[in-house]
Amino acid sequence: MLSNISNRLKLIASYAETNDTVADIGTDHGYVPIWLIQNNACRNVILSDINSGPLEKAKENIREHLGDVETDIRQGSGLSVLRPGEADMIVIAGMGGILTSKIIEADMDVALSAKKLVLQPRRDAALLRKYICNSNHFIIVEEQVVRENRKLCEILVVKPSSDNNVHQDEAEVELRNAAAGRGLSDSFLFEFPPLWLRGQGDASALVEYRLRGANTIRKSIIRNGNAPDSEERLREIESRIADISKFLELINIYAV
Ligand SMILES: C[S@@+](CC[C@H](N)C(=O)[O-])C[C@H]1O[C@@H](n2cnc3c(N)ncnc32)[C@H](O)[C@@H]1O
Repeated sequence: MLSNISNRLKLIASYAETNDTVADIGTDHGYVPIWLIQNNACRNVILSDINSGPLEKAKENIREHLGDVETDIRQGSGLSVLRPGEADMIVIAGMGGILTSKIIEADMDVALSAKKLVLQPRRDAALLRKYICNSNHFIIVEEQVVRENRKLCEILVVKPSSDNNVHQDEAEVELRNAAAGRGLSDSFLFEFPPLWLRGQGDASALVEYRLRGANTIRKSIIRNGNAPDSEERLREIESRIADISKFLELINIYAV
């Protein structure tokens, strides 16, 4: 038995419903599907990876933790391993946000046929949100931040909005309007998504971490004040600090 997995992987797995077929794209160690099977948390799993090394690792872990259970393991890039309608929930975790968006774009018919996609970009989450929002094919219904070791990881739950009418989640719209009312721009809100204003999980910790980072940059610009562009950089970083501070104030108002 797999006695435990990280809070990040556990949270990803928690979005599965008992009747779901869950496809874990870029599964590597295979812990999410193993955890799901062990806990009877879904009907079926599909494990896939572009590389054979990770799939061998996943097979070994399956043998160790599940014994002789037959599992559906596929090698290939992104969603190309799936037929439309095969997976209810698609997990793409631990890859860059740009790669994640390319994987979705390359097999849009498969992505749109799922009930939900659970995305956990390792970096460039803002670019992934921008892609999702501008695609007009999906809505972001949940945003979470969870700590894994010392890293704060962003998780987006995305649903296809194929009925042409529903392009936005109501709760998200209300929070977005509140943020826009304070002058926070769309590009800022790709980095600091409105759903974080609910203050769940470690969202505040990540906002505070970025505020500390911005303050450190401000101090270093002031220390090296003779650089030719330092005035402009100082203006920019102070504007970012002001925006992050407004966002933190909004968390205090809207936290559930
Ligand atoms: C850092 S690991 C993440 C493992 C696991 N999903 C997690 O979140 O802990 C990234 C995995 O994605 C795989 N990968 C990279 N590009 C891929 C693609 N285009 N399609 C499928 N898998 C891919 C890599 O081989 C690697 O095993």
